[in-house]
Amino acid sequence: MSDVTGERVRHIYSTSALHYQMLLKFYRGLGVNLAKWRKEAIKRLPDLESPRILDVSTGTGANIPLLVDRYPEYSAIVGIDYTPAMLKQAARRVRDNEWKNVNLKLIDAREMSSKLDGCFDLVLSTYSLSIIPRSPHVLREIKKLTCKSGFIMLLDCQKFKGLLRIYNPLAIFLSTRLGGNSQTYSVPVSKIASRMFQPVSRRLMYSGMFYEDLYRLK
Ligand SMILES: C[S@@+](CC[C@H](N)C(=O)[O-])C[C@H]1O[C@@H](n2cnc3c(N)ncnc32)[C@H](O)[C@@H]1O
Repeated sequence: MSDVTGERVRHIYSTSALHYQMLLKFYRGLGVNLAKWRKEAIKRLPDLESPRILDVSTGTGANIPLLVDRYPEYSAIVGIDYTPAMLKQAARRVRDNEWKNVNLKLIDAREMSSKLDGCFDLVLSTYSLSIIPRSPHVLREIKKLTCKSGFIMLLDCQKFKGLLRIYNPLAIFLSTRLGGNSQTYSVPVSKIASRMFQPVSRRLMYSGMFYEDLYRLK
């Protein structure tokens, strides 16, 4: 599913893959501690027996060590991403740690259900849905790939509401550094997800600009 905005996101991540960690440090300086929220979100995931896990838009594979720690008995972890340069870094991480049954695949999240077999006990996506063009399509793909008893965890940013909305132009500017644009950023992903799935828990960070949502299938 190639399109102009999708290619733009891929280009940004191809050129910024090597600087990604530096960019994350910069955000941390602004009090946006993406790494800490990621760690906490994965720690809070429900207990699952030998889960098969799908990490949608795995990027450099930052979730993988945390998933391996949280579920040492995992049966498989599959990480998909659309940007070869990001996956290359994830592959190095997997190789260096000698994790077994961790597979990385170059796949567009918007058509992943046609490329992946079987269902997953846990599907997660961190800091990605706000930048993927036509992200509601990804939610539908996630639904197709989640096992009936499975869980879905989404961690991402969204527009400020209420008085704080005056900060939205700045938030949009900062998110464009990670590939977002005002159009993708404006899609109310968490609202759509909460209608599509059964909400289990929700946590808001940074005055609600970031959300950590856990869902089950309806
Ligand atoms: C901000 S990074 C987040 C990466 C990782 N999930 C994390 O938490 O560090 C966003 C990722 O989304 C990926 N991406 C963008 N569009 C995509 C698409 N259509 N399908 C799959 N991945 C995509 C980018 O290549 C990038 O690796």
